[in-house]
Amino acid sequence: MAEVVIVESKDAAGALVAAEIAALIENRPDAVLGLATGSTPLPVYQALRGRLDGVDVSQVRGFALDEYVGLDPAHAESYRSVITREVVEPLGLDPQRIQVPNGAEATIQHAGADYEAAIAAAGGVDLQILGIGTDGHIGFNEPGSSFASRTRVKTLTEQTREDNARFFDSIDDVPRHCITQGLGTILQARHLVLLAFGEGKAQAVADAVEGPLTASLPGSAIQLHPHATVVVDEAAASKLKLADYYRYTYANKPAWQGI
Ligand code: F6R
Repeated sequence: MAEVVIVESKDAAGALVAAEIAALIENRPDAVLGLATGSTPLPVYQALRGRLDGVDVSQVRGFALDEYVGLDPAHAESYRSVITREVVEPLGLDPQRIQVPNGAEATIQHAGADYEAAIAAAGGVDLQILGIGTDGHIGFNEPGSSFASRTRVKTLTEQTREDNARFFDSIDDVPRHCITQGLGTILQARHLVLLAFGEGKAQAVADAVEGPLTASLPGSAIQLHPHATVVVDEAAASKLKLADYYRYTYANKPAWQGI
């Protein structure tokens, strides 16, 4: 089962996960980070700005989870732009070492296989940051995604398009297709860190952590992973049946264990 850490705020979550990432990079300067986009990981990226001062990040490598298909990479809401703006530039990472799936239509047929090959060539992802959609998706693996899936094109659900419309002028501008690491790809990362904040995520979190293992709730795939950490605020934790046990376990955890 995933370790669940219930924190008081997004900032506390950001500080906790940033500390883990900073320690990883200090131990392994060419660490491979799995980068999520969307609102959820922003407190982690913000906290990292302070944590990485004085740390050599020149060798750090990174792979984004997903990208929209057919959206100009220069568009402010392409995940290439978001990763550049929120992660690469503020943290001073080498842009050549940070990859995002290629959503260009002309090359989309082999973009998934190309991305898988690049992740494999890097030796796999050390720490994968994840958010979760209100429909339970991780990456853009919408309900019904195979637990064995690899990086490929998916069709976004209307729910996800509505959820993401806030980043665009109108819902009509939200692409219908994406290219996303598969659940099988994500499960190969050595440490999964899933974050969620707010009541709107409470059901998806409860289903992912405590519900049945099912492709209908792609986030439940984390139950298959030997080292998965779920960091949630009180609102996102509000539907967890074992919340008190998670609090007790974390409070009594030896400090040296980290997350
Ligand atoms: C983003 C991603 C998605 C988001 C999810 C939650 O790279 O893969 O799974 O993590 O849609 O989005 P937010 O964080 O905006 O609520």
